[in-house]
Amino acid sequence: AITPVLLAGGSGTRLWPVSRKSFPKQFAPLIGEESLFQASARRLAGPRYGAPLVMTNADFRFIVAEQLDQIQIDPEAILIEPAGRNTAPAILAAALLAAERDPDAVLLVAPSDHVVPDAEGFGRAVDLGLSAAEAGRIVTFGITPTRPETGYGYMEAEGEGQGPLVLKRFVEKPKAEDAARMIAQGNYLWNGGIFLFAARTMIEAFKAHAPDYLAPVQAALTEARADLGFLRLAPEPWDRLPDLSIDYAVLEAAKNLSVVRYSGHWSDLGGWDAVWRETQTDAPAERGAVTDARSTAIDCDNVLLRSQDEGIEVVGIGLQDVMVVATNDAVLVAGMDRAQEVRRAVSALKDKG
Ligand code: GDD
Ligand code: MG
Repeated sequence: AITPVLLAGGSGTRLWPVSRKSFPKQFAPLIGEESLFQASARRLAGPRYGAPLVMTNADFRFIVAEQLDQIQIDPEAILIEPAGRNTAPAILAAALLAAERDPDAVLLVAPSDHVVPDAEGFGRAVDLGLSAAEAGRIVTFGITPTRPETGYGYMEAEGEGQGPLVLKRFVEKPKAEDAARMIAQGNYLWNGGIFLFAARTMIEAFKAHAPDYLAPVQAALTEARADLGFLRLAPEPWDRLPDLSIDYAVLEAAKNLSVVRYSGHWSDLGGWDAVWRETQTDAPAERGAVTDARSTAIDCDNVLLRSQDEGIEVVGIGLQDVMVVATNDAVLVAGMDRAQEVRRAVSALKDKG
């Protein structure tokens, strides 16, 4: 069976004020009743998959355990990273641990903050990629791009059809003009941020492209401490690791990348504009206004109004291209096209103390 690896360590600052340092977006019910993390764990449960490895940090460990318990998923392990060092060391730690337990282990690494409603359709895409992964490829999932988004990885595929296709090129977070050019060229796909590979393939890829990670991550794992059902990686070597995503550390340089096209619905809930796009269809929309149970839009256009607090009602009248997100102790009001800058507001607030 494939071992799912759920990445649940990000802090999701662009979804402030619902996403907080102590309770980031992946654990909040942003879409529907379940949290995004629970939906992701459930998506990767079932006959294809074994028990998941969860990569998180000390602050979120009890939330992770409790949310898995609520949906009756028993993890293989919950690993605690001593500090957030981005996805490269987290994925390497998962690969080293899995390879120790089973030298032929195949992993499916997935973010815990995405919306992919068709679990079975996605599972069939995983099936398509499995033999390539077993044969030593790192299999990515390609999404047909719809706009020159600069927050994603872009992948140039060789040939037609669903794949797996060989990847000629991987470009992480391009500049706007490069993104526009790749979209115009037509044979580029977005990286879905989900990866299927044999644990040993990923270890070899680090040896080739990011060798400095190997010894410290292995040491953090060897010195790890079991604690109340969690596995705490040792802080000493880990804290000194550079903060780098798997995309920059390995994928841009790797020569053994493949892609399976995934044409079902996929969304990275990267900001409130994405939440707005995602909730648009099933809300009581009035000219593109998205509201929830405690907010009301009158004569609004391209507006997201949300209240995450029982006691606060949000009313918008005659608004255009605006997002308002209220919680019990903070309110965000921003232009719809400024969604990515919420991250800046969060660092400004941090500086204020
Ligand atoms: N455990 C752990 N530890 N998880 C982390 C850490 C960490 O230090 N840092 C980030 N994550 C988690 C995030 O919570 C998220 O679920 C996932 O790893 C990916 O990180 P993001 O920070 O959201 O990456 P991104 O969206 O900017 O870019 C990636 O995803 C895009 C698609 O959504 C890249 O893979 C892009 O190429 C891709 O297009
Ligand atoms: Mg993301």
